[in-house]
Amino acid sequence: MKQENAIGLFDSGIGGTSIWKEVHALLPNENTIYLADSKNAPYGLKSKDEIIGLSCKNTELLLELNCKIIIVACNTATTNAMKELRTKYKVPFIGIEPAIKPAALLSKTHTIGILATKGTLNSELFHQSVSNHPDVRIIEQIGHGLVQLIENGDIDSPEMLELLKSYLIPMVEKNIDYLVLGCSHYPYLIPQIKKIIPNSIKIIDSGEAVAKQTQKVLEQHQLLNISNEKSVQLFYTNSEPHVLENILNNQEKVVYKQF
Ligand code: DGL
Repeated sequence: MKQENAIGLFDSGIGGTSIWKEVHALLPNENTIYLADSKNAPYGLKSKDEIIGLSCKNTELLLELNCKIIIVACNTATTNAMKELRTKYKVPFIGIEPAIKPAALLSKTHTIGILATKGTLNSELFHQSVSNHPDVRIIEQIGHGLVQLIENGDIDSPEMLELLKSYLIPMVEKNIDYLVLGCSHYPYLIPQIKKIIPNSIKIIDSGEAVAKQTQKVLEQHQLLNISNEKSVQLFYTNSEPHVLENILNNQEKVVYKQF
């Protein structure tokens, strides 16, 4: 495997760009290829077998494109399919899981909230991480409808604000002091979330930790790109490119591709 080969990332859609942004900020020298499987979003309502099938399809495309490492930039795919991916393919994988651990360790009210998809909250991996913190009350909430609205480009809509209020106000009333965003789409909702919850509640997502872990694994495999050439960022979507372009502030070129 060559150091110049790209870091591959995939998500059920545009949300994993929140992870790509952190990775690109930390490792600007790296070439990257991002796959937005928006045609099949949301993954959160699919069965485990369907999520595994889609994750294998995305991985195989990234391997055909010679990616040296794959970031599963989707909590739902990580929590449902990572075991199978690691068994089936030799490439190193980085996953993204809800940041329950730091929130549970830092909470003073011993009550934290987690907003994630049904697929993530129902997964075995998620239940395992919850069971590591028996002394903390974990308020789980499925973010019904949020991914679909983000995929439609409706982040600032009144409908989004109403949905978020209905999910977050009950958590605030239960005295959470940390809110864990357990879906890579949700960091794009932080401005709306801040309109609803008090400043004292801290919001945690996993983007920065994923970027640091990627750097560490690339170092371990001696795969960091040390070339002096300007890095290339490629974005593929199997749906309308403009939604992905918008979320990237129209700074990156997005190409439609069937996959
Ligand atoms: N970005 C995905 C995640 O992190 C969204 C899942 C979905 O498509 O429902 O879970």
